[in-house]
Amino acid sequence: MARKSALINVMEAAARKASRKLLRDFNEVENLQVSRKGPADFVSAADITAEKTLREELSHARPDFGFRLEEGGDIPAKDGSHYWIVDPLDGTTNFLHGIPHFAISIGVMEGKNLIAGIILDPVKDELFWATKGDGAFVNGHRLRVSARTGMADSILATGIPFLGKPGHEEFMREANEIMAVSAGIRRFGSASLDLAYVAAGRFDGYWERGLSDWDMAAGIIILRESGGLVSQIDGGEKMMEKGDILATNSGINQHMLDLLRKARKKV
Ligand code: IPD
Ligand code: CA
Ligand code: CA
Repeated sequence: MARKSALINVMEAAARKASRKLLRDFNEVENLQVSRKGPADFVSAADITAEKTLREELSHARPDFGFRLEEGGDIPAKDGSHYWIVDPLDGTTNFLHGIPHFAISIGVMEGKNLIAGIILDPVKDELFWATKGDGAFVNGHRLRVSARTGMADSILATGIPFLGKPGHEEFMREANEIMAVSAGIRRFGSASLDLAYVAAGRFDGYWERGLSDWDMAAGIIILRESGGLVSQIDGGEKMMEKGDILATNSGINQHMLDLLRKARKKV
């Protein structure tokens, strides 16, 4: 049975509190779509409010932990080693457009190691969570990556760079290789949920460049605890520092590394 550690309980309570407000704001944002000004300012306020709630709740429960906050920056740890990595709203563009696919993502670091994480999808009421060494779960069920070994049956998630982001050509080369041999590519718009869905065996793999550590911290530990493999796109280990990630089940990992290498050779 899925037994939650104290750290998971703390993160879940904070995320559930923040998510109640986010959900109210999401219902409101759907009404704002038709207004001339659009909902952008409203959404950035919702994002900041969610982060404030998370920060208050988490620091109340663990006063000695530091923070790495997407909106609020870094706060050093009083105990010198533990800190929360928080993305209060992952999938902002979806939220802004009234698309019900976004999440709150919280990871916990001890020194340089990820030790726990949660990803809460408030709309679908799915809580993905993992503690190092204890497996990963969605709500009460154990998570397992898929068993597929062939690219032809596999679905891959990704993030497509948009206005103002670099790497448009590079992405097209990678997508060209992968679309030609797979069952399809998906762009859902929330990196944390993309990772959680690989952990759940819904996607067989996921790759993206240009991310930040708060997009992937919780997803990395959840994926590892589900039996998945995670690295940089070239196989390196510095995902959180460099911002590029390849996450797969074990069956297609080498295929994906090879296809992405092939794309690089075509420069
Ligand atoms: C974004 C989402 C998106 C990814 C972007 C991220 P945000 O996070 O995870 O899927 O493609 O690169 O920045 O801005 O919604 O927190
Ligand atoms: Ca994000
Ligand atoms: Ca965000």
